[in-house]
Amino acid sequence: MKAIVHEGKKGMQGLSLKDFQEPEAGSGMVKIKLMTAGLNRRDLMVLNRHKEDQPPLIIGSDGAGIVIQTGDGVTNVAAGEEIIINPGLGWEKNTDAPPSGFEIVGLPGHGTFAEYITLPAENVEKKPAHLNWEEAGVLSLAALTAYRVLFTRAKVKEGDTVLIPGIGSGVGTFLLKFAKAAGARTIVTSRSQDKQKKAMEFGADLAISTTSDWNEELKDETVDIVIESIGRATFEKSLQIVRKGGTVATFGATTDDIVEIDIRHFFYGQLNLLGSTMGSTEEFKEMLDFIERHNIKPVLDSVFELDEFEIAFDKLKNSENLGKIAFRVSE
Ligand SMILES: NC(=O)c1ccc[n+]([C@@H]2O[C@H](COP(=O)([O-])OP(=O)(O)OC[C@H]3O[C@@H](n4cnc5c(N)ncnc54)[C@H](OP(=O)(O)O)[C@@H]3O)[C@@H](O)[C@H]2O)c1
Repeated sequence: MKAIVHEGKKGMQGLSLKDFQEPEAGSGMVKIKLMTAGLNRRDLMVLNRHKEDQPPLIIGSDGAGIVIQTGDGVTNVAAGEEIIINPGLGWEKNTDAPPSGFEIVGLPGHGTFAEYITLPAENVEKKPAHLNWEEAGVLSLAALTAYRVLFTRAKVKEGDTVLIPGIGSGVGTFLLKFAKAAGARTIVTSRSQDKQKKAMEFGADLAISTTSDWNEELKDETVDIVIESIGRATFEKSLQIVRKGGTVATFGATTDDIVEIDIRHFFYGQLNLLGSTMGSTEEFKEMLDFIERHNIKPVLDSVFELDEFEIAFDKLKNSENLGKIAFRVSE
């Protein structure tokens, strides 16, 4: 089968489209023919985490397709069903944090940028009927992350004002749609004027530049919640803009992991700082129910063939995307 495989060298240099052994479904597993797959910033990071001396790895966490084989003991799904993949392995219930052993599809195990994948049967869910294959293939990781950080962790409620720095982000675009559906006022930032304009078109109440003085731009706003994922470039600005007693929830550090904060402002301001990562199977099911009830579709930036992977990865690396990038895997 065709697959995007990482081996031998760190970064993009180790990545190629090649023939790879097709997997078979063992006990409790399902074999999926992938129709589409979705890119995440994680895929760029995996290229550096997967070591030169480790066996070849098919990368990719997101995908949608058709079950073509079920292993012994599988009862929740049958061959022929259209499904999407839940990329979180080993986190069933909505607990405070993932249990030990929690892993993500696409490192250390093989991922979705291939014609076929085998996964535990509990990691597939029925494809939402209102999504086409491209939309279904880019949904899972980003929408699950957005759902948990916004609802489980930050506990957004109707009437809150939510600030989302870096709206180009795939997760950010779900945060915007989810927060709007929850009845919140939404403010987004971007370095790109074009992305600011487009974000207003699909529902943001206000869009400002990421590099502007937020306290000046938002002097008439009261920000209850900031959902942070940029890291060093914006973290301190996020803490400075949230209202006294407000919440900053973070799930990413696109620019840098190490940040400096004004701790006095933090404690005088009675601020809440929360961390979040992905989500459980329970939250994945809640998220699917939520997007079906509110008819929410991913913001799809572009669709590439597997052999165009270098263009797709470059686009993501350079933040030229607004929302999600898909691969078309099969016809
Ligand atoms: N913990 C988890 O479970 C989890 C899950 C998903 C993602 N993440 C992390 O969350 C982050 C977002 O993920 P994603 O897949 O949505 O990423 P993405 O689609 O690549 O978006 C990243 C966005 O960050 C902004 N950005 C990038 N460099 C910047 C800079 N130097 N200064 C200011 N803004 C910058 C850009 O927004 P503009 O172009 O609009 O400026 C860009 O679109 C990543 O760090 C990812 O690893 C974590």
